[in-house]
Amino acid sequence: MEVVWLVVVFLVIIISLNGVECKRVKSRRRALDDEYYYSAISCRAHSASIVDYGGVGDGKTLNTNAFQQAINHLSQYGSDGSQLFVPAGKWLTGTFNLTSHFTLFLHKDAVLLASQDIKSWPVVDPLPSYGHGRDAAGGRYISLIFGTNLTDVVVTGENGTIDGQGAVWWQQFHSKKLKYTRPYLIEIMHSDSIQISNLTFLNSPSWNLHPVYTSNIFMQAITILAPVTSPNTDGINPDSCTNTRLEDIYIVSGDDCVAVKSGWDEYGISYGMPTKHLIIRRLTCISPYSAAIALGSEMSGGIQDVRAEDITAINTESAVRIKTGVGRGGYVKDIYVKGMSLHTMKWVFWITGNYGSHADTHYDPNALPEIKGINYRDIVAENVSMAARLEGISGDTFTGICISNATIGLAKKAKKYPWTCSEVEGVTSGVVPPPCNLLPDKGADKPAACDFPEESLAIDNLELKRCSYMMSYF
Ligand SMILES: *[C@@H]1O[C@H](CO)[C@@H](O)[C@H](O)[C@H]1NC(C)=O
Ligand SMILES: *[C@@H]1O[C@H](CO)[C@@H](O)[C@H](O)[C@H]1NC(C)=O
Ligand SMILES: *[C@@H]1O[C@H](CO)[C@@H](O)[C@H](O)[C@H]1NC(C)=O
Ligand SMILES: *[C@@H]1O[C@H](CO)[C@@H](O)[C@H](O)[C@H]1NC(C)=O
Ligand SMILES: *[C@@H]1O[C@H](CO)[C@@H](O)[C@H](O)[C@H]1NC(C)=O
Ligand SMILES: *[C@@H]1O[C@H](CO)[C@@H](O)[C@H](O)[C@H]1NC(C)=O
Repeated sequence: MEVVWLVVVFLVIIISLNGVECKRVKSRRRALDDEYYYSAISCRAHSASIVDYGGVGDGKTLNTNAFQQAINHLSQYGSDGSQLFVPAGKWLTGTFNLTSHFTLFLHKDAVLLASQDIKSWPVVDPLPSYGHGRDAAGGRYISLIFGTNLTDVVVTGENGTIDGQGAVWWQQFHSKKLKYTRPYLIEIMHSDSIQISNLTFLNSPSWNLHPVYTSNIFMQAITILAPVTSPNTDGINPDSCTNTRLEDIYIVSGDDCVAVKSGWDEYGISYGMPTKHLIIRRLTCISPYSAAIALGSEMSGGIQDVRAEDITAINTESAVRIKTGVGRGGYVKDIYVKGMSLHTMKWVFWITGNYGSHADTHYDPNALPEIKGINYRDIVAENVSMAARLEGISGDTFTGICISNATIGLAKKAKKYPWTCSEVEGVTSGVVPPPCNLLPDKGADKPAACDFPEESLAIDNLELKRCSYMMSYF
């Protein structure tokens, strides 16, 4: 009897010891599970979760106030910096504003859902370099995530999702009911040192990511998806920005995958802020009605020093397209493109000098754009309808166009003449099918190199830090 009792006590002790051991292991596991690591331009001293501010990730509760209160509260930490964690869940929200020295971090299963209640979106002024909204003459609905006059902002995650639920906006656009210009998913204005990385953006009401009047921008590992028929769902629009680096970007959309801009007609000319020093690397684009990379059409502040490398386009209308026109003014110069793999395309080289689409009727008909120094090399294309459609402006020849080492496989139903050129001037070498007379072949002994710059840009020397967010239970 006593022996049996002893054995029972012994067993109980062993079991409870095991229990302790289990618990200890478990709590260590928990800590591990709830620590998140990411790379960023700066790490932050202070952390909070959206849940701490009353956020509810049920897909129904509106979290606009939770986001804005969290960010307003965290902004007190100033240059020590702060980060806001968004856990797994569906977080319905209206628009909110970012602050400086701040990181918004999305868990991999976190989805921000943009409110579809159009009435609740505040309206802000048109951009000074545009003078007007693009969908309607007046103001613009503020972007879902907005920031102005900021420094050092990171929006990142583990490929978490920001879903613009844009269908209601597309309907309003098609039925011409919009009173103001549609919002973007993220707009950052007048700012410096911005990172957007490791996120997926879905169904934006209009453009997806719009840095404007901003410098030192780094975007990496971004997926952008929208129906290929959705209106103006441009992927990334660097607009009057300096030092921008876009890397590892995958975009399926209804408009240009990357659209480089710098203001519209007389407004862009007088604002006078170019987009320059832009790197685009490892971009994959699917956009049957638009370009992989567009320069313009709003380019009135100028576009200079764009370096595009390793571009893949599948079922996309054109590759790197320049869009401009009389009245735009400004310039597009020192453009370098190296390494493109293109599958199913209407025009590999497309330059349009009569794009039209004016802000208003007050544009200056003498404001002619200067287009020069446009370099393309190392290109393989297949199933192409026309190799090139290059149209300058009468009295304003587009010069210094250089194309080398390009093999363009034409489609079975290709157009009869693969090249059409007017008011353009330049050279080629090693281009198949043979180019138009305005772009003579320099031959194998004196090849047109269309050299890509060798010196790196400052934005390439960013040092990313290893940062973490630790879930706290207090
Ligand atoms: C994005 O995620 C990948 C894979 O986890 C990681 O290697 C990379 O450093 C991340 N980039 C940034 C800028 O967060
Ligand atoms: C966000 O910023 C815009 C533009 O500065 C401003 O109009 C708006 O009131 C701000 N929203 C909040 C909630 O502070
Ligand atoms: C933001 O910066 C711009 C350009 O420097 C300036 O014109 C504007 O007044 C600033 N806005 C605020 C709210 O500080
Ligand atoms: C991120 O998510 C998107 C959408 O689900 C997916 O297509 C993409 O492959 C993911 N990217 C990575 C790096 O996991
Ligand atoms: C020509 O382009 C192809 C495809 O991009 C590339 O593999 C090859 O190295 C290029 N040739 C030269 C001489 O640069
Ligand atoms: C070639 O392009 C046409 C459209 O111009 C498309 O219908 C067809 O599927 C493409 N073929 C291949 C093999 O990709």
